Amino acid sequence: MANNSLKDTYALNGDPLTKENLLNETIVLSNEKKTPPRNQKHFYIESYGCKMNFSDSEIVASILNKDGYKLTDSPKNATLVLVNTCSIREKAEQTVRKRLKLFNRLKHNNKYLKIGVLGCMAERLKHKILEEEKMVDLVVGPDAYKDIPNLLKEAEAEREAVNVILSKEETYGDIAPVRLASNGVSAFVTITRGCDNMCTFCVVPFTRGRERSRDPKSILKEVNELYQKGYKEITLLGQNVDSYLWYGGGLKKDFSKASSLQQKTAINFSKLLELVGTAQPKMRIRFSTSNPQDMSLEVIHTMAKHDNICNYIHLPVQSGSNDILEKMNRQHSREDYFKLIDNIKKHIPNCGISHDMICGFPSETEQDHQDTLSLMEYVKYDFGFMFAYSERPGTVAAKKIEDNIPESTRKRRLQEVIDLQRIHSEYRNQHFIGKIVCVLIEKSSKRSNEFWSGRTSQNTVAVFPKENYKVGDFVDIKIKEVTSATLIGTAMGISSSI
Ligand code: SAH
Ligand code: F3S
Repeated sequence: MANNSLKDTYALNGDPLTKENLLNETIVLSNEKKTPPRNQKHFYIESYGCKMNFSDSEIVASILNKDGYKLTDSPKNATLVLVNTCSIREKAEQTVRKRLKLFNRLKHNNKYLKIGVLGCMAERLKHKILEEEKMVDLVVGPDAYKDIPNLLKEAEAEREAVNVILSKEETYGDIAPVRLASNGVSAFVTITRGCDNMCTFCVVPFTRGRERSRDPKSILKEVNELYQKGYKEITLLGQNVDSYLWYGGGLKKDFSKASSLQQKTAINFSKLLELVGTAQPKMRIRFSTSNPQDMSLEVIHTMAKHDNICNYIHLPVQSGSNDILEKMNRQHSREDYFKLIDNIKKHIPNCGISHDMICGFPSETEQDHQDTLSLMEYVKYDFGFMFAYSERPGTVAAKKIEDNIPESTRKRRLQEVIDLQRIHSEYRNQHFIGKIVCVLIEKSSKRSNEFWSGRTSQNTVAVFPKENYKVGDFVDIKIKEVTSATLIGTAMGISSSI
């Protein structure tokens, strides 16, 4: 490739090709043609998948800013296009591949353009992605973002720019994220990275590595800075937030090797919530995601104690059948899950609860599916995220459990789960009619520019006429009508609660 472009330049300027000016040409070429002038270094970033990816893109933006790159919202103006990718289901990867093809076309008109793949697909496919997606220049796994400036230099010199090394320490706690597409009201704060759970269907432990927690001091610093900048709500993020543990180090698997003093004074998730909730009593605190086996009674008590910790728990269950839960290597039974739900409802009666569900896991029988529906009947979730099982290469489920579920059965079961969830969402929302709820305004409603849209403490979307309120206000709303997805009401005034 370097030779071709050299030939092009030689042909254009017509200079005789000597060894000396060949060398000069090469230098001029790499300066002029491959490296954008400093004032033209613009990056465009697109994120797919979970909230963690969106949060990671804010870390990447911060690293690139320091390296002289400015953010642009159009890939056409960019000298660097990054796609932060998701591998969780096959469809997520297909979406990314389509985008990469589209971005590749921009290379015809943009001599400086480099394209980078970040995140889970980079980690899963490693060098292979360079062969599969011919015009990708950079491949960077989730723990290697600090290496991006070096990798860019490699890419500019037409050398392979791949770093997919997973770390046991990296939490990016020392990097102040640049808030992307922010409404200035809500922000994500990452508290753990990686996952040690090894659910048999899931690719995350392979793409994001070992579970490690971030130093609470750096978490509090970030939260305090967000408050000072006017943010009203934060979401503490991790694949498994309830297993947060800081004992001077944050690598989960080494906790047993810590000194007894370190173990005694360790900060678990409940203590972290307490710290954050107390540090900023005027901010709403949310967290995601909770794994049932790690959610303690202590966390529920802390939530109940602090008004600013939202009454909402995202509590994926994946299946209602004990057989399937075991095959998924989920570390709890259906009965354990019910006990947890009962405890949540006992201590936080109006707590909103949502779920993730996988339909058609290999070997799932009709009875297993009925167990899922009956579990949903018991809980009556406020809302949920429901998926057809997608086989991920390298996982235990892909290697060891024969997939005997026809696609049509999988789709039918998924539809039944979605239909039931719609009924439950409407049932839950009906309970809000006539009640006054506090809503934090986030943006204009998609349906009408005359309405604000925000969320209740339970994470339910509420819309209401704008009047003189503004984004970032906590407003008391009287709910008049509901759909399965939205509460509709009118404002009663600025709220005294949050
Ligand atoms: N603990 C993580 C879970 C990440 S994956 C978190 O922070 O949310 C999000 C959801 O995707 C899972 O809860 C599961 O319901 C779904 N999922 C994961 N792997 C899947 C697969 N192979 N097929 C279908 N759905 C999957
Ligand atoms: Fe995946 Fe299970 Fe962890 S769903 S992210 S392995 S908790």
